[in-house]
Amino acid sequence: MSESRVYPVPASFSDAHINAARYREMYRQSIDDPAGFWGEQAEQFLSWDKPWDSVVNADLTIGKAEWFAGAKLNVSVNCIDRHLPARAGQTAFIWEGDNPADSKHITYAELHEAVCRLANVLRERGVKKGDRVCIYMPMIPEAAYAMLACARIGAIHSVVFGGFSPEALKDRILDSDCQTLITADEGLRGGKKVALKANADAALAACPNVHSCIVVQRTGGDVAWSEGRDLWYHEATAAAAGDCEPESMDAEDPLFILYTSGSTGKPKGVLHSTAGYLLQAAMTFKYTFDYREGEVYWCTADVGWVTGHTYIVYGPLANGAISLMFEGVPTYPDAGRCWEVIDKHQVATFYTAPTAIRALHAVGDEPVKRSSRASLRLLGSVGEPINPEAWEWYYRVVGDSRCPIVDTWWQTETGAQMITPLPGATDLKPGSASFPMFGVDLALLNEDGSEIEGAGAGYLVVKSSWPAQIRTVYGDHQRLIDTYFSTYPGYYFTGDGATRDEDGYYWITGRVDDVLNVSGHRMGTAEVESALVLHDKVAEAAVVGFPHDIKGQGIYCYVTLMDGEEPSDALKQELVKLCVQEIGPIAKPDVIQWAPGLPKTRSGKIMRRILRKIAENELGSLGDTSTLADPSVVDSLIENRAG
Ligand code: PRX
Repeated sequence: MSESRVYPVPASFSDAHINAARYREMYRQSIDDPAGFWGEQAEQFLSWDKPWDSVVNADLTIGKAEWFAGAKLNVSVNCIDRHLPARAGQTAFIWEGDNPADSKHITYAELHEAVCRLANVLRERGVKKGDRVCIYMPMIPEAAYAMLACARIGAIHSVVFGGFSPEALKDRILDSDCQTLITADEGLRGGKKVALKANADAALAACPNVHSCIVVQRTGGDVAWSEGRDLWYHEATAAAAGDCEPESMDAEDPLFILYTSGSTGKPKGVLHSTAGYLLQAAMTFKYTFDYREGEVYWCTADVGWVTGHTYIVYGPLANGAISLMFEGVPTYPDAGRCWEVIDKHQVATFYTAPTAIRALHAVGDEPVKRSSRASLRLLGSVGEPINPEAWEWYYRVVGDSRCPIVDTWWQTETGAQMITPLPGATDLKPGSASFPMFGVDLALLNEDGSEIEGAGAGYLVVKSSWPAQIRTVYGDHQRLIDTYFSTYPGYYFTGDGATRDEDGYYWITGRVDDVLNVSGHRMGTAEVESALVLHDKVAEAAVVGFPHDIKGQGIYCYVTLMDGEEPSDALKQELVKLCVQEIGPIAKPDVIQWAPGLPKTRSGKIMRRILRKIAENELGSLGDTSTLADPSVVDSLIENRAG
């Protein structure tokens, strides 16, 4: 568990916003007096149209969280308008294109105008407060404008990652009945085009309620056009006014829906509301990254994931920061790209995922050493456990043993960072996300639901409400309660396992449910299984994760064919294609093993524990197989182990 090395707070962070004493004091207050603590933060971090009647009213036994009831505010005003008196000419976004020759700065004044114009276009198309707008975009500034334009008029955005297939896009549009889609002709990643509008057209063929499809011209490639429904972004915004009256929103009005995978069923529409989400986004951004006025901050996530929402758009802009948005991939034109971009834009903070760190580590030190990285002050990691080897490389080579690493644990459902070191306060242990953020009341539970005191390993839960807490699963509130608040009544169940060491540091060990984390992308095994069984030659499928050097976890599929069907390589290819088609390239199976039978209990339940062990090649620890209906199935699976 615990690494022996500890990296103390460097002298360069002695004047950080939060030092160790301040962390302890603020953390204590945040737990002892949440209303007092968050009330103060709310005054400090946000601008309100109307103050709140009460700070918090929550009950985790029923999954209820209500923050700042009675208050009013607008997210786009907090992210843009209120900065204009002091920062109209300051950069809000630096956009770095896929092609290294393409980059631009967007000032807060320009951001204001772009957001207002698009907000007016949406209003003209009849979009009102509470309507859902789907955003399916490449990493271009218009993606952020679209989110903020929705926030300005009180529409609820649902961003769908641009790497998802038409099928996945369609499901998400229908689930939340989005009637407007904002997309682009094509995306550009690593020199390759992504046919977003064509994908959107395929999805919209099954979405009759979508009345407007706003298309940004990114590449100028040919696209099909549906008269009346489709409109060019550049034409519509040019004709719209550059000012737009913001909608004053209730603190608890929804801000966005973001779909994420669970262990069962279709992806869930995680719903976040206005004030609590923005407050925690703003506060964590400033303190975790020790953000200083005028610094350039770069988060490499895609806006299609929660990290992009909270730490490319809302957190940075609420602080009037300079946020770098990158269209491309870390390995294009070569593996030195990130380090070049850091030098080019004088980036102070670099926040990325372990999978990217491992991939760049694998290429060696040379591409890093080509750059100076003298502007770097802080490094960050998010999305999956970071193995100590990757951590050490990131620290020594990328950060020149000068920059602390904040390993931030959180989830789509938590909205903002929950466990993280603070660079001026926390001595670092490689691989540990360390301590809870302000206002985050954690516990580790035993299987029976009792709390573990002191050091130990168990299920990670949260004991009391936090402002950016998930409010509901869109359209299915019962699913919220069943998924997060029923396993251990009175607690929010994260789905993660963790250990806590003698010094109180948390070490996240990964999911304890049937959710995979593939290159930092969350995916339910059930989603991949549903795709596989769509094939008419497949009778049954069981999917598990296995350790993968770069991706963290790979996708291992056991497939049982219909009676009389013959396994073949061609069939394997068809199955791989089917997963990509149904979900997207991120769901491409790494291994398919033909399984004449699956290990099942006598009541017919698949014993995934055994399948995981076989996939991991941990054949010595299969555990008890005597309760299986047919124990010989296991021998046959081991004999024919793939990969
Ligand atoms: O298993 C944890 C892992 O990612 C899951 C959440 O995934 P998602 O909702 O897509 O959000 C990812 C970005 C916040 C968690 O349940 N995870 C996230 N961050 C870490 C992590 N595991 C270990 N260490 C982390 N820093």
